[in-house]
Parts: sequence; structure tokens; C-alpha cells
Amino acid sequence: MNIEQYYDTWASTYDTVENRTRDLDAIAVRSTFANARFSTILEAGCGTGKNTSFWLEICDRAIALDFSSEMLAEAQKKLNSPNLEFQVADISKPWEIGDRTVDLVTFNLVLEHIQDLKPIFREASRVLKPSGKLFVCELHPTRQYLGGRAEIKTTSNTLQIPSYVHPISDFIESAEECGFSLERLKEWWSDRDRNKPPRLLSLLWTKS
Ligand SMILES: C[S@@+](CC[C@H](N)C(=O)[O-])C[C@H]1O[C@@H](n2cnc3c(N)ncnc32)[C@H](O)[C@@H]1O
Repeated sequence: MNIEQYYDTWASTYDTVENRTRDLDAIAVRSTFANARFSTILEAGCGTGKNTSFWLEICDRAIALDFSSEMLAEAQKKLNSPNLEFQVADISKPWEIGDRTVDLVTFNLVLEHIQDLKPIFREASRVLKPSGKLFVCELHPTRQYLGGRAEIKTTSNTLQIPSYVHPISDFIESAEECGFSLERLKEWWSDRDRNKPPRLLSLLWTKS
């Protein structure tokens, strides 16, 4: 199976199975952007729309991309707004989005499936307006080194989705090479894993 097919398989249960990483990411997004307002937000790898609903609350127009038609179908069941456009798109290919048209580009729990960050960050830079923001919130690399990765739990077994580890330096250096200045780096723990390595890493940059 390819990654897209794994997510097609996961789509119908993604929102309901216990998943602390998914839930902590929702908290990280809402707390990071609690007082923010944007004109246009582009969400790359929107999945079932867990965060899309929040992005819609803080912007005038949201564009949500994903290559899994089943994940997108789940998002579309929940979200219907004239301010929201869904696109079936592979974010590792050139994006069908105009230059300098977006104020925030966000990636949540998606870059572990992308081998090379630079082409992706280059696209983010291309579509962002000057001083636009780039936000990334991903499974912490330390967790990945310890074996953590996106996985589908079924009643009979667990399917691990192919993924890549990006050390913190890879995020920072790739973004810097694509013209971003780091504003904030945060590590996130859920209440139940305080004594363990951080679960999530979030980074916020400004396009310089
Ligand atoms: C773990 S889910 C996260 C979904 C959502 N961002 C969230 O935080 O709940 C990862 C999503 O990224 C999508 N994805 C992975 N690689 C992708 C790619 N190359 N292009 C577009 N979407 C991709 C998957 O289809 C899936 O919906």
C-alpha cells in the first residue's frame, strides 16, 4: 500500500480511535493561534478537517489540501463553507496556488510522510505573501527515534504508515534555506506523558 491508501483505509476511524498525538496537535494549534487573524490560510495535509474547522474561524478564506480522497471526504462531511476550498493534491508536487496569495501555511502531522522538506518549504515560500507565516507541528523526532510513528489500529492488528524522521536541525536548516526566519519553537507533552520525551514539536517562522 502507498501512503495515500493507508490514509484512505484510516479515514473512517481517524477521528474516533484514541490518539493522543492527534488530540495534542489540536491543542497546540488552538493555543498557538488563539488571538490570531489571517486573510488566507493554506492547510497542507488537512486530513479529516480536525484543524480546518479552527482555521476557518480565524481567517477569511481557507484552502485545505490532501491526497487522500477518503480523508477529504470525511472533512467535507463536517465542513461546508463558501470560505473553504478543498483540493485533492499531493503536496510533494507543485501546488496549484498563486504566488504571494497566502498569509499562513500550516502543516500538522504530515511532514513525517515527506522525505525532503526543502521542495515543500520552497512551495510554502512561493505562495506566502511577504512576512507570511509558516507553521509546522509534527511528531517529535525523539519520539520517532524511539519507534513512534503514525499507525492505524484495527481490532485485529496495527498498521504502521511509512514515515521519515526529520531531526530538529532538518526543519530549521531547510526552512532557513527557503527564506524563513524562526520565530518560535515549542515542545508539547500530553498530560499523561509528562515524564516521557516530548510528543510534538512545533515551529513558527516568518517569511523574510
Ligand atoms: C496524520 S494525518 C493528519 C491530518 C491533519 N493534519 C490532522 O492534524 O489531523 C496526515 C494527513 O496527511 C496526508 N498526506 C500525507 N502525505 C501527503 C502528501 N504527499 N500530499 C497530500 N497529503 C498528504 C494524509 O493523507 C493524511 O490525511
